[in-house]
This record gives sequence, C-alpha cells and structure tokens, in this order.
Amino acid sequence: MIITDKVICKQMKAFAKVNISLDIISKMDDGYHYLKTIMQSVSLCDDITVRCEKGEGITVDTRSSYIPGDERNIAVKAAHVFFDYANIRDYKTHIEIDKHIPVCAGLGGGSADAACVLRMLNVMFDTRFEAEILEKLGREIGADVPFCIRGGTKLAQGRGDILQSLHPLKDCQIVICKPPFSCSTPELFARVNCGKIKKRPDTDGLCKALEDGDLKSVARRMYNVFEDIIPRKNTDIDDIKAALLDSGAMGAVMTGSGPSVIGLFDDRAHAKCAYDTLLKSYEDTFLTETIKEYL
Ligand code: C5P
Repeated sequence: MIITDKVICKQMKAFAKVNISLDIISKMDDGYHYLKTIMQSVSLCDDITVRCEKGEGITVDTRSSYIPGDERNIAVKAAHVFFDYANIRDYKTHIEIDKHIPVCAGLGGGSADAACVLRMLNVMFDTRFEAEILEKLGREIGADVPFCIRGGTKLAQGRGDILQSLHPLKDCQIVICKPPFSCSTPELFARVNCGKIKKRPDTDGLCKALEDGDLKSVARRMYNVFEDIIPRKNTDIDDIKAALLDSGAMGAVMTGSGPSVIGLFDDRAHAKCAYDTLLKSYEDTFLTETIKEYL
C-alpha cells in the first residue's frame, strides 16, 4: 500500500448501460429475482473526479439536489468497500460526480459511478486488484455494479452479477429517451409474478445473433419482460418506441426497470433524425454509441 503526503487526483468516465434484453426467471429465497439479461455499455457517461489526501472521511458532491450527497450515495459506499478491502486508512476522499446519466432511468447511472470509483481507487493506490476482485467488491454495493467494472457486451444472470462475456455488439448508434417520470426498481420487482409472464426474450437467439454479427437479428429479438409489468401512467413508452421505429430504428426496447427506451440504428443519419425528433418532446434524449469492454 502506498502512503504519501501528496494529494492524489484522478478523473474517469462512468459509462451507462442499457439492457438489450431482460428476462426474470424466478424469485429467490433472499427476495431478489433470478435474471437473465444482456447488457451493453454506451457512451452516455458521468464524469467522476476523485481526490485523496491524508486525513479522514469520504464526501461526495453531485451538484444536484435530487441525488444524495452523503453516505446514501453508492459511490461513497464503493469507496468504503474499497478502503476496507485494501486495508487503507487515514485518507480523506472527495468524490465529484458531474452527472449526465438520468437517475432512476434503467441506465445504471448510480452503479456506473460506484464501479468507476472502485476502478479509480485501484489505480490511484496502485493496489492492482484484478477485475474479478473489483466485481466481487461491486456485488456488495448493487446488482449492476459488477457489470459496470468492465462493461462491454455481457450476459448477466442471477441477481445480475454472474457475468459472461458475449461477442461484442456490432458498432451502432443507440438513441436513448427517458420519459419525464421515474420508476422505483424495488416497486417494479414487487409487481413481478414469474408464473404469469407471457412474453419473454429469446436470449439464446440473441447470443447467437451477436456471435453472427447480425445486428438486424439482434434488434428484432430485443425484449424486456418489465414492459408488460411497468404501470402505464400514460402512453410515453409506446410513443417513444413508435417514434424510434418510424425514424428507422432496427428495433426498440425499454431498458432495465425503465422507463427509458432505446432504439438501435446502423445508420447515423437516421439515428440523428430520431434524436432530433424525440428531443423536441423529451429533454432526456441522447444519441450514443456502443462502448467495448474497457478494463
Ligand atoms: O441491488 P440493487 O440495489 O441495484 O437492487 C435494487 C432492488 O431491486 C433490490 O432491493 C431488489 O428489490 C430489486 N432486485 C431484485 N432482483 C434483482 C435485482 C434487484 O429483486 N436481481
């Protein structure tokens, strides 16, 4: 472990994730649900700065009134988990999060921030923990944190933390659009009755389509079982899907526990046109690209 009197400072991007598919297999004894989901990193990101110097305490500044700026923020929890595991003490740590990923949106923003803090501290303190160790630490923080350690294209099972690398999704544009309401993930899971799920994604078919590099086949198979579970307060989700498909998306699906919807495009001009159209009605609209495994 490095002990230094110097201030150590690092900046890194925390990439959002989208779910190409999401299936809920069963409810487990611990109350969590057994998932089978294909996750993909996208270029939409938060910018994280971590500053450490001799002293005590972990603080966070999100420059946002609706994101916790204290111990409830899972980026702070990540720093605690890291320092405990690495047996590092006597460091005052300040985390600054320049937030661009909408919260409670199904985009894994909080998980991305927490995973990013683990990766940054691993570099800053030269602890050289393997990715598997960081994923293990991530499991203590939240179900999507292990995926966000390496990102890329992965099949996630169990709580979402049993990861298998898949053939990377072919480079493409992903338009993301979040309607102006939020969904509570625990509340949505509480509505799930696994025996009553009528339509499920063809996960094996999706893995094969990824392997074949067949973007059309991937787009056609995208599906998220939460789409039938999420309360339809209004028609936003369906309207966004329709707008994406009308603009030339190869496929469109809700991501995570919603309410954001994504559209897959193999043509930048069509993606830009969808982005411009949706931005007129929804301020949380983003034109993104796929990101390959980054660790
Ligand atoms: O682990 P995380 O805090 O991201 O999960 C939020 C909530 O979502 C959990 O408290 C649980 O209610 C629900 N959940 C679940 N099954 C999963 C993942 C999350 O029931 N696989």
